[in-house]
Amino acid sequence: MARLPDSFIEELRARTPLAALVGRRVKLSRSGRNWKGCCPFHAEKTPSFYVYDDGYHCFGCGAHGDAISFVMDSGGGSFVEAVAQLAGEAGLEVPKPTPQAAEVERQRLDLHAILEQVCSLYQQTLFAPQGAAALAYLRGRGLTDATIRRFGLGFSGDGRGSLIQRLGADVTPARLQESGLLREAEDGSPGRELFFNRVMFPIRDRRGRVISFGGRTLGDGQPKYVNGPETALFSKRRTLYGLDAARAAVREAAGAGAAQSHATVVAVEGYMDVIALHQAGFAGAVAPLGTALTEEQLEALWQLSPAPVLCFDGDAAGGRAAARAADMALPRLTPERTLRIATLPAGEDPDTLVRRQGQAAFATILQAARPLSECLFGLLREAGPAATPEQRAAFRARLEAAAARIGDRGLAAEYRRTLLEQYFASVRAPARAKSGARPNTSFGAHANAYALGPAPPVRASPRPRPAEATADAERMRHLIAILLRHPSLLPKLEETAASLPMPPAARRLLTAAQSLADSADSLDFSTLINHLTGLRLADDTAWALGDVPLPLPACAGPAATVSEAETAWWRIYGLMQRSLLEAELAAARRDCAENFTAASVQRVEALAGALFGRTDEPIAELGSDD
Ligand code: UTP
Ligand code: MN
Repeated sequence: MARLPDSFIEELRARTPLAALVGRRVKLSRSGRNWKGCCPFHAEKTPSFYVYDDGYHCFGCGAHGDAISFVMDSGGGSFVEAVAQLAGEAGLEVPKPTPQAAEVERQRLDLHAILEQVCSLYQQTLFAPQGAAALAYLRGRGLTDATIRRFGLGFSGDGRGSLIQRLGADVTPARLQESGLLREAEDGSPGRELFFNRVMFPIRDRRGRVISFGGRTLGDGQPKYVNGPETALFSKRRTLYGLDAARAAVREAAGAGAAQSHATVVAVEGYMDVIALHQAGFAGAVAPLGTALTEEQLEALWQLSPAPVLCFDGDAAGGRAAARAADMALPRLTPERTLRIATLPAGEDPDTLVRRQGQAAFATILQAARPLSECLFGLLREAGPAATPEQRAAFRARLEAAAARIGDRGLAAEYRRTLLEQYFASVRAPARAKSGARPNTSFGAHANAYALGPAPPVRASPRPRPAEATADAERMRHLIAILLRHPSLLPKLEETAASLPMPPAARRLLTAAQSLADSADSLDFSTLINHLTGLRLADDTAWALGDVPLPLPACAGPAATVSEAETAWWRIYGLMQRSLLEAELAAARRDCAENFTAASVQRVEALAGALFGRTDEPIAELGSDD
């Protein structure tokens, strides 16, 4: 029977949830982003069978394959029968092999074969006398011969038509042109060779097949790099240089528990960066092909890691590139898919960094990578000044707009809250310098402790105080009082407020006020109070706005402006957040003492990190069980 088209097989793989398929035979449990279980193909008691998005691998017996081979090896018959079964389950029709389809497929295979041939010719040339200068160039840049061979680097030769002569007789100029190796001549006929006197970097697809080339001049000539054009095989925006090697490294690390940084998935800028990092032991490095990271490339990164690192230059352009990448990523973030951002020292790229300062220098850069949630504020902050009220309002609008672009609603709300907290912390920070010594902020006699002044300093070691519970109840009352006083703040703050633990009276008021705000065009204080009284919430309202047990602070009173009230609201919220975290940390520590597991330790670390601002908590990578 004629071969089924690759495109159909790939569609079939993409539509078949492998874990569900395997899960029918084997009990699987989560392992990072992947699954693992006991191998169905050999007898074992401890799981060494891993299931990834598009394949499985057993580190015990070496069984390895995709959905189709899984069905075949599970007694599902021949390739054709397995495909028919899976297609039926996926609602796909197996294409009838037409002569045209077979021809298109044959052409693709031809192109692959041509590119492989060309790749080995270029490699031979590099190690032949005419490649001496190119080989010296690569060695001079610190690459070992093993690395040069690992990446299949080559030399193009002088480009005067020798390529076609050295290829097999069946390779026509038209085919060579379709492979992207010839320039198009004016009249559309195949023209001269695209690459001459260049060091050649084969570009491979995720499965390691050569699909194009990049070529670098040996010196300072322009253009520095020439890349192959788009072809039937090569789509620049879908390709990441080094992805085949990175996938292999991630798999290996998932099975062998190899050092984490070895397989940290990190996107850098150039060919040489990927290769130098690989040589220095960072096998998870990949690069786009001279453009900003695309959506397709980001998706490919996420197939390998829930939190890939994007590495940017330490200069202003690097900052802009990071902001652009973050912006592109926002709509695609979910609780399971995020990004980390690493910044290089100014003037270095990963290649120069590892060459001059060794691999530890880059390991440090990776360790210092910050979650997007933490650095987004800084990235947006750099997009414009925030010195005047107008500029600050614009900045705040940018923050809110960024959070609104996140598709996942829950996550969008979390980002919004985090960004606004940082915003309010940043706009009140300058006040600290002016106001000098500030009063003690511990809650108690000073009901005005957080009234419109600068932020309290972060305490170094929290000691839960007995009064904390009552203090939090008072703080909650103040939050509600502010919202009642300024109903225009409700749409913005309600969601954040609702996430806090609160007494029933506060919950009733918040719910009622929010539903009134939803149905009314505009709501002022007295209208709101009338409505609440009509809803028999007069007692609750009196509780919220009263002076018991302590007088309401000025920020919750009639004299405060909306913006003062809002600033105070976030301040109070921040204090509550802290004391909630402290209580959680205390509980987590008790739990950890009784029940010392990786998960309980991780929880303590995460909470301590959140409280004390440690940002170096490891993010679970592939292969970490949780
Ligand atoms: P860089 O200019 O940062 O080069 O381009 P590099 O990778 O550090 O190169 P070396 O170290 O000087 O050899 C980053 C990437 O941008 C693309 C290439 O993919 C390159 O790896 N690029 C750059 C081009 O496509 N064309 C160019 O002329 C320059
Ligand atoms: Mn470089």
